[in-house]
Order: sequence, then structure tokens, then C-alpha cells
Amino acid sequence: MSRTPIKLLSAVAVATSVLFAAPAIAGEAGAGEDVFRKCQGCHKVGEGAKNSAGPVLNGVVGRTAGTFEGFRYGDDLVAAGEAGLVWDEENIQEFIEDPRAFLREFLDDPSARAKMSFRLRKEEDRENVAAYLATL
Ligand code: HEC
Repeated sequence: MSRTPIKLLSAVAVATSVLFAAPAIAGEAGAGEDVFRKCQGCHKVGEGAKNSAGPVLNGVVGRTAGTFEGFRYGDDLVAAGEAGLVWDEENIQEFIEDPRAFLREFLDDPSARAKMSFRLRKEEDRENVAAYLATL
């Protein structure tokens, strides 16, 4: 009997932390959707999205780099995919910070190039946009 209030209290504590945690996670992806406006000139997402200057990014988290059908990637990004690069929330952040530097390091090739010329400099933006991409 005397344990019940403790259980109840911890249940309340768990419920409260869930309540506070949930909007924070959604908020990141939500903020990332705003950041994604900077990518939209080159990357389309959503139903019926087509490749434009950049590949469609639906389902990019979990995808092997350089493999979206019909997009003409640079040789080095394709090579990175063939060498085992699979996008996740973390390496996407590193890539968009500096695509060329990322490929040079990943391929250990100082002359590697990326066709993506855009760089996202703010760390918070990179985190948020990666969280957003993971929802697509
Ligand atoms: C100026 C056009 C342009 C902008 C802006 C741009 N990208 Fe890209 N992106 C590209 C191109 C082109 C590629 C293909 C690079 C290659 O083949 O070397 C690419 C590739 C990628 C890839 C790898 C996709 C794959 O299928 O392997 C990711 C992830 C990505 N971009 C994310 C972003 C995000 C996130 C933003 C916004 C913060 C962004 N890009 C902004 C042009 C752009």
C-alpha cells in the first residue's frame, strides 16, 4: 500500500517528461522544415517530387548515397555510395556543412568533388534539417 504513491509519482514523472519531450522532438523537425526552404531550389520532396538541380530527398535517410533513380550524380558521390556510404541523420549534417570536404575525407581523395555547391553553416540548422529529412 505504501508503495502506491511512489509508483503514482513516478508514473506522473514519466508522463510529464514524455509530454515535455514530444514537442521538443517535433519542434526540431518543424524548424527543419523551415530550414529546408534553403534546399528547395534544388531538392524536391513529397508526393510526385521530381529531380531538379539536385536529387529528390524523399527517404534519403537510410538510402545509399548517389542512388536516387534518374539523377545524374557526380562520379565521386556515386563512388562514396559504392564504398558503403549510407545517409543517416549525422553524416547528412557533415555533408551539408561542406559537401566537397565531406567527400574528400570519406573517399580519402584530395581531388574529390561534389556537384552540390551549397553549404549550410549554422549547426542548429543542420541538426534541424537532418531531423526533418528523417521524417520524409
Ligand atoms: C544549389 C543546389 C543545391 C542546394 C541549394 C542544395 N543541394 Fe543538396 N545536392 C545538390 C546536388 C547537385 C547534389 C548531388 C551532388 C553530387 O552528385 O555530387 C546534392 C546532393 C544532396 C544529398 C545527397 C543525396 C543522395 O541521393 O545521395 C543530400 C543529402 C543533400 N543534397 C541535402 C541537401 C540539403 C539538406 C540542402 C539544404 C540545406 C541542400 N542539399 C541544398 C544540390 C543542392
